[in-house]
Amino acid sequence: MIDTAQHATRPVIRRDIAGVPVADLARTYGTPLYAYDAETIRRRCRDLAAWDTVRFAQKACSNLAVLDLVRRAGVMVDAVSTGEIHRALAAGYRPHAPSAAATADALPPVHPIVYTADIFDRDSLDAVVRHGIHCNCGSADMLEQLAARMPGASVTLRVNPGFGHGHSQKTNTGGEGSKHGIWHEEIPDVLRRAEWAGLSVSGLHMHIGSGTDLAHLAEVAEALERVAVEIGRSLTTISAGGGLPVPYKPGEEHADLGGYFDLWNDTRRRLEERFGHRIRLEIEPGRYLTAESGFVITEVRALKRQGTRKYLLVDAGFNTLARPVLYGSYHPMSLCPAADDAAAAPTAEDVAVGGPLCESGDIFTQTDGGFVATRNLPAAAVGDLLVIEIAGAYGFVMASNYNSKPLPAEVLIDGGSHRLVRARQTPEDLVRGETV
Ligand code: LLP
Repeated sequence: MIDTAQHATRPVIRRDIAGVPVADLARTYGTPLYAYDAETIRRRCRDLAAWDTVRFAQKACSNLAVLDLVRRAGVMVDAVSTGEIHRALAAGYRPHAPSAAATADALPPVHPIVYTADIFDRDSLDAVVRHGIHCNCGSADMLEQLAARMPGASVTLRVNPGFGHGHSQKTNTGGEGSKHGIWHEEIPDVLRRAEWAGLSVSGLHMHIGSGTDLAHLAEVAEALERVAVEIGRSLTTISAGGGLPVPYKPGEEHADLGGYFDLWNDTRRRLEERFGHRIRLEIEPGRYLTAESGFVITEVRALKRQGTRKYLLVDAGFNTLARPVLYGSYHPMSLCPAADDAAAAPTAEDVAVGGPLCESGDIFTQTDGGFVATRNLPAAAVGDLLVIEIAGAYGFVMASNYNSKPLPAEVLIDGGSHRLVRARQTPEDLVRGETV
Protein backbone atom coordinates (compact mmCIF):
# COMPACT_ATOMS: atom_id res chain seq x y z
CA MET A 1 0.00 0.00 0.00
CA ILE A 2 1.37 3.39 -0.98
CA ASP A 3 1.05 6.23 1.50
CA THR A 4 0.52 9.34 -0.56
CA ALA A 5 0.18 12.57 1.36
CA GLN A 6 -2.48 14.88 -0.06
CA HIS A 7 -1.49 18.34 1.09
CA ALA A 8 -3.97 21.14 1.21
CA THR A 9 -2.67 24.58 0.31
CA ARG A 10 -5.73 26.52 1.35
CA PRO A 11 -7.28 27.58 4.66
CA VAL A 12 -8.71 24.43 6.19
CA ILE A 13 -10.70 25.90 9.05
CA ARG A 14 -14.23 26.70 7.87
CA ARG A 15 -16.83 28.10 10.22
CA ASP A 16 -19.50 29.05 7.70
CA ILE A 17 -21.00 28.14 4.36
CA ALA A 18 -22.35 31.13 2.43
CA GLY A 19 -22.61 33.09 5.67
CA VAL A 20 -24.41 30.39 7.68
CA PRO A 21 -22.44 28.84 10.57
CA VAL A 22 -21.60 25.20 9.84
CA ALA A 23 -22.35 24.41 13.50
CA ASP A 24 -25.90 25.83 13.14
CA LEU A 25 -26.55 23.66 10.08
CA ALA A 26 -25.29 20.54 11.88
CA ARG A 27 -27.32 21.36 14.99
CA THR A 28 -30.53 22.07 13.05
CA TYR A 29 -30.47 19.23 10.52
CA GLY A 30 -28.06 16.64 11.95
CA THR A 31 -25.14 15.00 10.14
CA PRO A 32 -24.17 13.79 7.62
CA LEU A 33 -25.79 16.61 5.67
CA TYR A 34 -25.62 17.97 2.14
CA ALA A 35 -25.73 21.79 1.99
CA TYR A 36 -25.92 23.72 -1.29
CA ASP A 37 -25.27 27.42 -1.81
CA ALA A 38 -27.92 28.73 -4.24
CA GLU A 39 -25.89 31.77 -5.28
CA THR A 40 -22.98 29.62 -6.47
CA ILE A 41 -25.36 27.68 -8.73
CA ARG A 42 -26.84 30.92 -10.12
CA ARG A 43 -23.34 32.28 -10.76
CA ARG A 44 -22.37 29.14 -12.69
CA CYS A 45 -25.55 29.42 -14.78
CA ARG A 46 -24.65 33.04 -15.60
CA ASP A 47 -21.12 32.01 -16.65
CA LEU A 48 -22.68 30.15 -19.59
CA ALA A 49 -25.11 32.87 -20.68
CA ALA A 50 -23.50 33.17 -24.14
CA TRP A 51 -24.89 29.77 -25.19
CA ASP A 52 -28.41 29.74 -26.73
CA THR A 53 -29.36 26.90 -24.41
CA VAL A 54 -27.79 25.67 -21.21
CA ARG A 55 -29.25 22.25 -20.50
CA PHE A 56 -28.59 20.93 -16.99
CA ALA A 57 -27.57 17.26 -16.88
CA GLN A 58 -29.65 16.74 -13.75
CA LYS A 59 -27.98 13.40 -13.03
CA ALA A 60 -25.35 15.54 -11.27
CA CYS A 61 -27.77 16.90 -8.63
CA SER A 62 -31.46 16.34 -9.13
CA ASN A 63 -33.06 17.65 -5.95
CA LEU A 64 -36.30 19.44 -6.91
CA ALA A 65 -35.17 22.67 -5.24
CA VAL A 66 -32.01 22.68 -7.37
CA LEU A 67 -34.00 21.96 -10.53
CA ASP A 68 -36.40 24.77 -9.65
CA LEU A 69 -33.46 27.10 -9.07
CA VAL A 70 -31.79 26.40 -12.43
CA ARG A 71 -35.17 26.58 -14.22
CA ARG A 72 -35.69 30.07 -12.81
CA ALA A 73 -32.19 30.93 -14.07
CA GLY A 74 -33.35 30.09 -17.61
CA VAL A 75 -31.64 26.70 -17.80
CA MET A 76 -33.29 23.75 -19.61
CA VAL A 77 -32.97 20.17 -18.43
CA ASP A 78 -31.79 16.76 -19.55
CA ALA A 79 -33.42 13.56 -18.29
CA VAL A 80 -31.93 10.08 -18.58
CA SER A 81 -34.73 8.05 -16.97
CA THR A 82 -38.42 8.05 -16.20
CA GLY A 83 -37.53 9.24 -12.72
CA GLU A 84 -35.63 12.23 -14.09
CA ILE A 85 -38.56 13.09 -16.40
CA HIS A 86 -40.81 12.97 -13.35
CA ARG A 87 -38.44 15.27 -11.43
CA ALA A 88 -38.24 17.77 -14.30
CA LEU A 89 -42.04 17.97 -14.53
CA ALA A 90 -42.38 18.22 -10.74
CA ALA A 91 -39.90 21.13 -10.76
CA GLY A 92 -42.07 23.05 -13.22
CA TYR A 93 -40.54 22.29 -16.62
CA ARG A 94 -42.97 22.08 -19.52
CA PRO A 95 -42.70 18.74 -21.34
CA HIS A 96 -42.22 20.13 -24.84
CA ALA A 97 -41.72 23.27 -26.85
CA PRO A 98 -44.76 25.20 -28.10
CA SER A 99 -45.15 24.26 -31.78
CA ALA A 100 -44.04 27.14 -33.96
CA ALA A 101 -42.88 27.00 -37.57
CA ALA A 102 -39.14 27.65 -37.73
CA THR A 103 -38.22 30.55 -39.98
CA ALA A 104 -34.79 31.07 -41.53
CA ASP A 105 -33.85 34.00 -39.30
CA ALA A 106 -35.27 32.78 -35.95
CA LEU A 107 -33.77 30.19 -33.67
CA PRO A 108 -35.87 27.02 -33.54
CA PRO A 109 -37.94 26.60 -30.36
CA VAL A 110 -36.13 24.96 -27.48
CA HIS A 111 -37.16 21.61 -26.01
CA PRO A 112 -37.41 22.29 -22.26
CA ILE A 113 -36.83 18.60 -21.42
CA VAL A 114 -34.78 16.21 -23.54
CA TYR A 115 -34.60 12.48 -22.80
CA THR A 116 -31.04 11.27 -23.51
CA ALA A 117 -30.15 7.59 -23.41
CA ASP A 118 -28.87 4.58 -25.34
CA ILE A 119 -32.03 2.56 -24.70
CA PHE A 120 -35.67 3.05 -23.89
CA ASP A 121 -36.74 0.85 -21.04
CA ARG A 122 -40.46 0.22 -21.32
CA ASP A 123 -41.35 2.85 -18.69
CA SER A 124 -39.28 5.59 -20.26
CA LEU A 125 -40.74 4.95 -23.71
CA ASP A 126 -44.23 5.21 -22.23
CA ALA A 127 -43.27 8.45 -20.45
CA VAL A 128 -41.78 10.20 -23.49
CA VAL A 129 -44.81 9.24 -25.59
CA ARG A 130 -47.27 10.31 -22.90
CA HIS A 131 -45.66 13.73 -22.46
CA GLY A 132 -44.37 14.26 -26.02
CA ILE A 133 -40.78 14.65 -24.85
CA HIS A 134 -37.98 15.16 -27.37
CA CYS A 135 -35.49 12.27 -27.48
CA ASN A 136 -31.75 12.23 -27.96
CA CYS A 137 -31.14 8.70 -29.25
CA GLY A 138 -27.88 6.85 -28.72
CA SER A 139 -28.87 3.72 -30.68
CA ALA A 140 -30.68 2.95 -33.94
CA ASP A 141 -33.02 0.63 -32.01
CA MET A 142 -34.32 3.63 -30.10
CA LEU A 143 -35.28 5.31 -33.38
CA GLU A 144 -37.39 2.38 -34.51
CA GLN A 145 -39.00 1.90 -31.10
CA LEU A 146 -39.86 5.60 -30.96
CA ALA A 147 -41.19 5.69 -34.53
CA ALA A 148 -43.59 2.85 -33.74
CA ARG A 149 -45.12 4.91 -30.91
CA MET A 150 -44.61 8.52 -32.09
CA PRO A 151 -44.81 8.47 -35.88
CA GLY A 152 -43.30 11.54 -37.52
CA ALA A 153 -41.38 12.67 -34.42
CA SER A 154 -38.22 14.73 -34.75
CA VAL A 155 -35.17 13.39 -32.92
CA THR A 156 -31.64 14.22 -31.91
CA LEU A 157 -28.85 11.75 -32.63
CA ARG A 158 -26.19 11.21 -30.00
CA VAL A 159 -23.06 10.33 -31.94
CA ASN A 160 -19.92 8.66 -30.62
CA PRO A 161 -17.16 10.41 -32.58
CA GLY A 162 -14.70 7.54 -32.11
CA PHE A 163 -12.72 9.21 -29.33
CA GLY A 164 -13.42 10.26 -25.75
CA HIS A 165 -11.86 11.46 -22.50
CA GLY A 166 -12.82 11.74 -18.83
CA HIS A 167 -11.30 12.29 -15.39
CA SER A 168 -11.44 8.50 -15.04
CA GLN A 169 -11.74 5.70 -17.59
CA LYS A 170 -15.17 5.14 -16.05
CA THR A 171 -16.34 8.59 -17.17
CA ASN A 172 -14.96 8.43 -20.73
CA THR A 173 -17.99 8.17 -23.02
CA GLY A 174 -16.39 8.08 -26.47
CA GLY A 175 -14.38 5.63 -28.55
CA GLU A 176 -14.75 1.88 -29.01
CA GLY A 177 -14.46 1.32 -25.26
CA SER A 178 -17.73 3.16 -24.66
CA LYS A 179 -21.28 1.85 -25.09
CA HIS A 180 -22.57 5.38 -25.65
CA GLY A 181 -23.88 7.00 -28.78
CA ILE A 182 -24.30 5.94 -32.40
CA TRP A 183 -20.92 5.07 -33.88
CA HIS A 184 -19.81 7.86 -36.24
CA GLU A 185 -19.26 5.52 -39.19
CA GLU A 186 -22.83 4.21 -38.91
CA ILE A 187 -24.43 7.58 -39.60
CA PRO A 188 -25.38 7.03 -43.28
CA ASP A 189 -27.07 3.75 -42.38
CA VAL A 190 -28.82 5.23 -39.34
CA LEU A 191 -30.07 8.18 -41.39
CA ARG A 192 -31.60 5.74 -43.87
CA ARG A 193 -33.25 3.84 -41.02
CA ALA A 194 -34.60 7.09 -39.54
CA GLU A 195 -36.03 8.09 -42.90
CA TRP A 196 -37.74 4.71 -43.43
CA ALA A 197 -39.16 5.00 -39.95
CA GLY A 198 -40.55 8.44 -40.84
CA LEU A 199 -38.48 10.40 -38.29
CA SER A 200 -36.72 13.67 -39.00
CA VAL A 201 -33.31 14.36 -37.50
CA SER A 202 -33.36 17.89 -36.08
CA GLY A 203 -30.58 17.62 -33.50
CA LEU A 204 -27.02 16.40 -33.22
CA HIS A 205 -25.27 15.81 -29.90
CA MET A 206 -21.85 14.61 -28.81
CA HIS A 207 -20.65 14.06 -25.25
CA ILE A 208 -17.20 12.51 -24.99
CA GLY A 209 -16.83 12.30 -21.22
CA SER A 210 -17.07 13.91 -17.83
CA GLY A 211 -14.43 15.87 -15.99
CA THR A 212 -12.22 16.17 -19.04
CA ASP A 213 -10.36 19.30 -20.20
CA LEU A 214 -11.06 21.89 -22.84
CA ALA A 215 -8.31 20.63 -25.13
CA HIS A 216 -10.12 17.30 -25.48
CA LEU A 217 -13.54 18.92 -25.63
CA ALA A 218 -12.40 21.24 -28.43
CA GLU A 219 -11.79 18.24 -30.71
CA VAL A 220 -15.52 17.49 -30.54
CA ALA A 221 -16.53 20.63 -32.46
CA GLU A 222 -14.66 19.49 -35.56
CA ALA A 223 -16.04 15.94 -35.36
CA LEU A 224 -19.57 17.24 -34.88
CA GLU A 225 -19.31 19.53 -37.90
CA ARG A 226 -18.37 16.58 -40.13
CA VAL A 227 -21.40 14.56 -38.99
CA ALA A 228 -23.68 17.64 -39.24
CA VAL A 229 -22.81 17.95 -42.91
CA GLU A 230 -23.75 14.29 -43.42
CA ILE A 231 -27.12 14.87 -41.76
CA GLY A 232 -27.83 18.01 -43.75
CA ARG A 233 -30.48 20.71 -43.70
CA SER A 234 -32.94 19.00 -41.35
CA LEU A 235 -30.57 19.96 -38.53
CA THR A 236 -31.66 22.89 -36.37
CA THR A 237 -29.85 22.24 -33.05
CA ILE A 238 -26.35 21.14 -32.15
CA SER A 239 -25.18 20.23 -28.64
CA ALA A 240 -21.63 20.27 -27.36
CA GLY A 241 -22.62 17.88 -24.55
CA GLY A 242 -21.31 18.30 -21.02
CA GLY A 243 -17.94 17.56 -19.51
CA LEU A 244 -16.85 21.05 -18.40
CA PRO A 245 -14.23 20.62 -15.68
CA VAL A 246 -14.19 22.28 -12.26
CA PRO A 247 -11.08 22.78 -10.11
CA TYR A 248 -11.04 20.22 -7.28
CA LYS A 249 -7.37 20.14 -6.33
CA PRO A 250 -5.23 22.97 -4.99
CA GLY A 251 -3.58 24.76 -7.91
CA GLU A 252 -6.26 23.82 -10.46
CA GLU A 253 -8.07 26.70 -12.14
CA HIS A 254 -11.32 27.36 -13.94
CA ALA A 255 -11.18 26.73 -17.68
CA ASP A 256 -11.39 29.47 -20.35
CA LEU A 257 -15.07 29.23 -21.16
CA GLY A 258 -15.04 32.26 -23.49
CA GLY A 259 -12.58 30.59 -25.87
CA TYR A 260 -14.59 27.37 -25.73
CA PHE A 261 -17.81 29.17 -26.66
CA ASP A 262 -16.09 30.99 -29.54
CA LEU A 263 -14.92 27.71 -31.00
CA TRP A 264 -18.45 26.27 -30.94
CA ASN A 265 -20.00 29.50 -32.15
CA ASP A 266 -17.72 29.41 -35.21
CA THR A 267 -18.82 25.83 -35.89
CA ARG A 268 -22.45 26.87 -35.60
CA ARG A 269 -21.97 29.89 -37.91
CA ARG A 270 -20.37 27.73 -40.62
CA LEU A 271 -23.27 25.30 -40.45
CA GLU A 272 -25.80 28.15 -40.59
CA GLU A 273 -24.14 29.46 -43.72
CA ARG A 274 -24.13 26.04 -45.34
CA PHE A 275 -27.78 25.24 -44.47
CA GLY A 276 -29.21 28.74 -44.90
CA HIS A 277 -31.04 28.75 -41.55
CA ARG A 278 -30.34 29.38 -37.87
CA ILE A 279 -28.88 26.64 -35.66
CA ARG A 280 -29.46 26.55 -31.92
CA LEU A 281 -26.26 25.95 -29.94
CA GLU A 282 -26.61 23.99 -26.71
CA ILE A 283 -24.28 22.97 -23.90
CA GLU A 284 -25.18 20.26 -21.37
CA PRO A 285 -23.19 20.63 -18.16
CA GLY A 286 -23.86 18.76 -14.95
CA ARG A 287 -20.81 19.11 -12.75
CA TYR A 288 -20.06 22.70 -13.74
CA LEU A 289 -23.40 24.05 -12.49
CA THR A 290 -23.53 22.42 -9.06
CA ALA A 291 -20.20 20.87 -7.95
CA GLU A 292 -18.84 23.93 -6.18
CA SER A 293 -22.14 24.76 -4.50
CA GLY A 294 -22.24 21.55 -2.47
CA PHE A 295 -20.75 20.60 0.91
CA VAL A 296 -21.05 17.44 2.98
CA ILE A 297 -21.09 18.28 6.69
CA THR A 298 -19.99 15.35 8.85
CA GLU A 299 -19.11 14.92 12.50
CA VAL A 300 -15.82 13.48 13.72
CA ARG A 301 -16.74 10.41 15.80
CA ALA A 302 -13.42 8.66 16.44
CA LEU A 303 -9.67 9.17 16.16
CA LYS A 304 -7.37 6.19 16.08
CA ARG A 305 -3.82 5.22 15.28
CA GLN A 306 -3.09 2.07 13.24
CA GLY A 307 0.68 1.62 13.54
CA THR A 308 2.18 4.81 12.15
CA ARG A 309 -0.98 6.11 10.54
CA LYS A 310 -3.65 8.24 12.15
CA TYR A 311 -7.32 7.81 11.14
CA LEU A 312 -10.06 10.31 11.56
CA LEU A 313 -13.46 8.61 11.34
CA VAL A 314 -16.56 10.63 10.51
CA ASP A 315 -20.26 9.78 10.28
CA ALA A 316 -20.37 10.01 6.45
CA GLY A 317 -19.08 7.17 4.31
CA PHE A 318 -19.09 6.09 0.69
CA ASN A 319 -22.80 5.58 1.20
CA THR A 320 -22.92 9.40 1.48
CA LEU A 321 -20.30 10.43 -1.13
CA ALA A 322 -19.12 7.67 -3.45
CA ARG A 323 -16.69 9.55 -5.71
CA PRO A 324 -13.49 8.76 -3.75
CA VAL A 325 -14.17 4.99 -3.62
CA LEU A 326 -15.37 4.86 -7.22
CA TYR A 327 -12.75 6.99 -8.93
CA GLY A 328 -10.15 7.90 -6.30
CA SER A 329 -11.54 11.44 -6.56
CA TYR A 330 -10.03 14.25 -4.53
CA HIS A 331 -12.38 16.49 -2.54
CA PRO A 332 -11.06 19.43 -0.51
CA MET A 333 -11.79 19.16 3.22
CA SER A 334 -11.95 21.65 6.03
CA LEU A 335 -12.51 21.46 9.75
CA CYS A 336 -15.02 23.35 11.85
CA PRO A 337 -13.82 22.89 15.46
CA ALA A 338 -16.56 22.42 18.03
CA ALA A 339 -14.78 24.80 20.39
CA ASP A 340 -15.55 28.34 19.31
CA ASP A 341 -12.03 29.47 20.08
CA ALA A 342 -10.90 31.51 17.09
CA ALA A 343 -7.58 32.37 18.77
CA ALA A 344 -6.44 28.77 19.12
CA ALA A 345 -4.72 27.79 15.87
CA PRO A 346 -4.71 23.98 15.88
CA THR A 347 -1.58 22.25 14.68
CA ALA A 348 -1.86 20.41 11.39
CA GLU A 349 -1.37 16.67 11.02
CA ASP A 350 -1.52 14.05 8.29
CA VAL A 351 -4.60 11.88 8.68
CA ALA A 352 -6.50 9.33 6.65
CA VAL A 353 -10.21 10.19 6.67
CA GLY A 354 -12.72 7.35 6.73
CA GLY A 355 -16.37 6.67 7.41
CA PRO A 356 -18.56 4.27 9.39
CA LEU A 357 -19.04 1.45 6.87
CA CYS A 358 -17.90 -2.14 7.34
CA GLU A 359 -15.64 -2.07 4.32
CA SER A 360 -11.98 -1.05 4.10
CA GLY A 361 -12.63 1.02 0.99
CA ASP A 362 -14.67 3.46 3.08
CA ILE A 363 -11.95 6.08 2.92
CA PHE A 364 -12.32 9.64 1.59
CA THR A 365 -8.57 10.14 1.21
CA GLN A 366 -7.81 7.44 -1.34
CA THR A 367 -6.22 7.52 -4.74
CA ASP A 368 -7.31 5.71 -7.89
CA GLY A 369 -6.85 1.99 -7.30
CA GLY A 370 -7.93 2.19 -3.66
CA PHE A 371 -4.65 3.19 -2.05
CA VAL A 372 -5.15 4.90 1.29
CA ALA A 373 -3.62 8.39 1.34
CA THR A 374 -3.48 11.02 4.04
CA ARG A 375 -4.52 14.64 4.12
CA ASN A 376 -2.90 17.47 6.03
CA LEU A 377 -5.69 18.84 8.24
CA PRO A 378 -5.92 20.79 11.49
CA ALA A 379 -5.75 18.41 14.47
CA ALA A 380 -9.33 17.34 15.14
CA ALA A 381 -11.23 16.14 18.20
CA VAL A 382 -14.36 14.02 18.49
CA GLY A 383 -17.34 16.34 18.05
CA ASP A 384 -15.63 18.65 15.54
CA LEU A 385 -17.29 18.96 12.15
CA LEU A 386 -15.45 17.97 8.98
CA VAL A 387 -16.68 19.61 5.77
CA ILE A 388 -16.10 17.79 2.48
CA GLU A 389 -16.22 20.34 -0.30
CA ILE A 390 -17.06 20.56 -4.01
CA ALA A 391 -19.52 17.76 -3.42
CA GLY A 392 -22.56 19.23 -5.17
CA ALA A 393 -22.20 17.14 -8.34
CA TYR A 394 -22.50 13.35 -8.30
CA GLY A 395 -22.72 13.53 -4.52
CA PHE A 396 -26.18 12.97 -3.06
CA VAL A 397 -27.41 11.45 -6.33
CA MET A 398 -24.95 8.56 -5.98
CA ALA A 399 -25.56 8.06 -2.26
CA SER A 400 -26.88 4.65 -1.22
CA ASN A 401 -28.45 2.74 1.65
CA TYR A 402 -25.43 0.43 2.01
CA ASN A 403 -25.11 -0.91 5.57
CA SER A 404 -28.74 0.18 5.95
CA LYS A 405 -27.69 3.78 6.40
CA PRO A 406 -30.44 6.34 5.72
CA LEU A 407 -29.91 8.84 2.90
CA PRO A 408 -28.76 12.17 4.33
CA ALA A 409 -30.81 15.36 4.45
CA GLU A 410 -30.28 18.13 1.89
CA VAL A 411 -30.40 21.84 2.68
CA LEU A 412 -30.43 24.89 0.41
CA ILE A 413 -28.78 28.10 1.61
CA ASP A 414 -29.97 31.27 -0.06
CA GLY A 415 -29.45 34.88 0.93
CA GLY A 416 -28.22 33.97 4.40
CA SER A 417 -31.16 31.71 5.23
CA HIS A 418 -31.45 27.96 4.91
CA ARG A 419 -34.19 25.42 4.40
CA LEU A 420 -34.56 21.68 4.30
CA VAL A 421 -35.10 20.51 0.71
CA ARG A 422 -34.99 16.79 1.42
CA ALA A 423 -35.65 15.16 4.79
CA ARG A 424 -33.19 12.64 6.14
CA GLN A 425 -34.48 9.09 5.66
CA THR A 426 -35.85 7.33 8.70
CA PRO A 427 -35.44 3.67 9.74
CA GLU A 428 -39.04 3.16 8.50
CA ASP A 429 -38.05 4.50 5.07
CA LEU A 430 -35.32 1.87 4.93
CA VAL A 431 -37.72 -1.07 5.11
CA ARG A 432 -40.63 0.45 3.17
CA GLY A 433 -41.96 -2.05 0.66
CA GLU A 434 -40.25 -5.03 2.26
CA THR A 435 -42.21 -7.99 3.62
CA VAL A 436 -41.27 -11.05 5.64
N1 LLP B 1 -24.46 14.75 -20.97
C1 LLP B 1 -24.40 13.40 -20.97
C2 LLP B 1 -25.00 12.67 -22.08
C3 LLP B 1 -23.77 12.73 -19.91
O1 LLP B 1 -23.69 11.41 -19.92
C4 LLP B 1 -23.22 13.48 -18.84
C5 LLP B 1 -22.57 12.80 -17.70
C6 LLP B 1 -23.33 14.88 -18.88
C7 LLP B 1 -23.94 15.49 -19.96
C8 LLP B 1 -22.79 15.76 -17.80
O2 LLP B 1 -21.43 15.65 -17.67
P1 LLP B 1 -20.65 16.70 -16.72
O3 LLP B 1 -20.86 18.07 -17.29
O4 LLP B 1 -21.24 16.58 -15.38
O5 LLP B 1 -19.24 16.28 -16.77
N2 LLP B 1 -20.31 10.03 -11.63
C9 LLP B 1 -19.19 10.66 -12.34
C10 LLP B 1 -19.65 11.45 -13.54
C11 LLP B 1 -20.49 10.64 -14.52
C12 LLP B 1 -21.01 11.48 -15.65
C13 LLP B 1 -22.04 10.78 -16.46
N3 LLP B 1 -22.54 11.54 -17.57
C14 LLP B 1 -18.41 11.53 -11.36
O6 LLP B 1 -18.74 11.56 -10.17
O7 LLP B 1 -17.43 12.16 -11.74
